[in-house]
Amino acid sequence: MCGIVGYIGDKNVDAVILVGLEKLEYRGYDSAGVATISKGELGIRKIVGKIWRLAGLLNQKPLGGNVGIGHTRWATHGEPTRLNAHPHVDCNRRISVVHNGIIENYYTIKEKLLKEGHVFESETDTEVIVHLIEKHMDGNLEKAVFKTVKDLEGSFAFAVICEHDPNKVVAAKSGCPLIVGLGRGENVLASDATPVLSITKEVLDIEEKEICVLEKDKVSLFNFDGKKVERKSRVVEWDVEMTTKDGYDHFMLKEIYEQPRVIRDNIRRRINDDYKIDIASDFNLTNGELARVSRIIIQACGTSWHASLVGKYLLEHYCRIHTEVDISSEFRYRNPVADGETYVMAVSQSGETADVIAGIRSAKAKFLKVLSICNVMGSTVARECDGVVYTHAGPEIGVASTKAFTAQLLSFYFLTFYLAKIKWLLSDDELKRLLDELKTISDKMEKFLNSDGKLNKIAKKFYNAKNFVFLGRGINYPLALEGALKLKEISYLHATGYPAGEMKHGPIALVDEKMPVVCIVPKSSVYDKMVSNIQEVKARKGRIIAVATEGDKKIKSIADYVIYIPEVSEIFSPLVVALPLQLLAYKIAVMRKCDVDKPRNLAKSVTVE
Ligand code: AGP
Repeated sequence: MCGIVGYIGDKNVDAVILVGLEKLEYRGYDSAGVATISKGELGIRKIVGKIWRLAGLLNQKPLGGNVGIGHTRWATHGEPTRLNAHPHVDCNRRISVVHNGIIENYYTIKEKLLKEGHVFESETDTEVIVHLIEKHMDGNLEKAVFKTVKDLEGSFAFAVICEHDPNKVVAAKSGCPLIVGLGRGENVLASDATPVLSITKEVLDIEEKEICVLEKDKVSLFNFDGKKVERKSRVVEWDVEMTTKDGYDHFMLKEIYEQPRVIRDNIRRRINDDYKIDIASDFNLTNGELARVSRIIIQACGTSWHASLVGKYLLEHYCRIHTEVDISSEFRYRNPVADGETYVMAVSQSGETADVIAGIRSAKAKFLKVLSICNVMGSTVARECDGVVYTHAGPEIGVASTKAFTAQLLSFYFLTFYLAKIKWLLSDDELKRLLDELKTISDKMEKFLNSDGKLNKIAKKFYNAKNFVFLGRGINYPLALEGALKLKEISYLHATGYPAGEMKHGPIALVDEKMPVVCIVPKSSVYDKMVSNIQEVKARKGRIIAVATEGDKKIKSIADYVIYIPEVSEIFSPLVVALPLQLLAYKIAVMRKCDVDKPRNLAKSVTVE
């Protein structure tokens, strides 16, 4: 995980790097640091904790200069202490490095370097990089980096500055994201595009095993063998405003409220006036190839895995495609049975989740086609797949995924209807009916978000509970998983999501008069079954919080609390059901005084295995 930034130019380097690190704080926030070269001398500031503490330190003791690097850390090797915080330095404190990733052979390298007389300060794997650069440095920084990367195994994106070659930032990438922003008389690099946006929207994606050299007026790109690489830049479609809280208390809240707009904009983008779905422009696959898909294995993690479970339901129902959903960290280590007509799908908000990327690579090694649903343009997932459906949710900064989830669901609707159409399984009339209803969903989401009063009362009642259970069935069973994940990750309450019909096979033993049970029970084909399951919980004195369809009086007579959502067809209900679950988790976390956007132990994109 971790986020890195590098800058060269005439702006206040401390400020540019701080602002950049703030944008990347979602990637880790155990410690942070900055190094710059000012008047020929390397200066370093680092702290344990979040970026605002680093800002305080830089305010008291500014660094200045025209070139610098910064880091926000999610600890892997070594506790989050000041010594382990990046940037790290060489023995003579003239070279400084920030690193995202893991150097797997660091121990062997360190032993060798120790024997050669190098002195280490930290317990990190990163420190070997800077000592290797020191060893290879003979006046030209990129040459030292070319030699250094040859010794490294594992994953990395690192940036380095050096007093002996002070007018550049050199960075290398292998297995971790790195993007360069091309400014006028200034250039910037970062782990993703968000820190770059305040300077430029023109970016260069750094590919695997490449080294870039940022000088004030130019950026040069090389492969690890030192051969020059030419690449066209692209323009990022995100704006810097999208990366602010925009008056909301938290990014998560802002992102929850952004969902109707994201859904509306995406529908406008994807569905034309003739009810044609436009999703295949980023596919290297023909409709003929897609029509032959007989089996799909979707692999994803966390919230994206939950969206994929809804996707399975849709693909099987409408396309009659046998669909499996696997957790990426499991998928990558199994040996799935797959033939030529089996496609693998990767679903990822960040497009940088290490296990998802490994899953894609293992599928490609079996010569399987891979499609993805992804939010970040130019990310590794997007680049490595044969086709990508972008979710166009805009930057998601809160660690708890919200708008990316509903945008992933929407992408699954688009993909499903598209495939069903080319497989001749959906008539024009039926497609029109479905798309017409889909077009109404954003208004319904908005209506719910504008009337969430009940949730405060429920959150107040239960924010001190020890455990929560979430129950759902059919297409809303994954929503029970998602509701539980949201609650546990931001409020640190234990919560479990379960298929309601499975409760009686064990977990119902957990239920007593103290147990809040969130029951997802919108009008659907499994409504009566769900009501029976709720009765079973009620008979054991569980506290029922129902998420039900507006006007459902029956549920009111059974449940302790009812959160009403607008009426939608069963098939589209997950899009609306997600909202009360996200808001409930949010409100409980706020009442428990948790750091909603940066929950403990977590990072937004999990770029380590
Ligand atoms: C969700 O709220 C999480 N923070 C997490 O589970 C996330 O969904 C998971 O790490 C996958 O990330 P990705 O979509 O960026 O691949």
